[in-house]
Amino acid sequence: MIGRLNHVAIAVPDLAEAAATYRDALGAEVTKPQPEPDHGVTVVFINLPNTKIELLEPLGADSPIAKFLEKNPNGGIHHVCYEVDDIIAARDQMKATGARVLGDGEPKMGAHGKPVLFLHPKDFCGTLTELEQA
Ligand code: CO
Repeated sequence: MIGRLNHVAIAVPDLAEAAATYRDALGAEVTKPQPEPDHGVTVVFINLPNTKIELLEPLGADSPIAKFLEKNPNGGIHHVCYEVDDIIAARDQMKATGARVLGDGEPKMGAHGKPVLFLHPKDFCGTLTELEQA
């Protein structure tokens, strides 16, 4: 069922500084910051030949990544995202195997305009895991 690695998301305390690090030190192509109020983050994408890195900065008072940054003040890997062909079929398979789907269990629009779901880190090797319909 699982497909390509769509992205690795890194939460950062300062998006401009993080973007500059990727651009200047690593020579990466970095997109403009994109506010995602529904997800409580501002995102910058780094397009690599085989996948993407998303840099996430908190947006708004109750950003879902605020607690993570309290524990990891320098930033850190926040989640990984795998592509699936059919998000509803994937969700139903997750539930059938006992994995916990976060939120109300209904897919939300992700940063790429495609439906996404998040799976509980305790069920996936301590790593918050996102599924995105390809
Ligand atoms: Co993501």
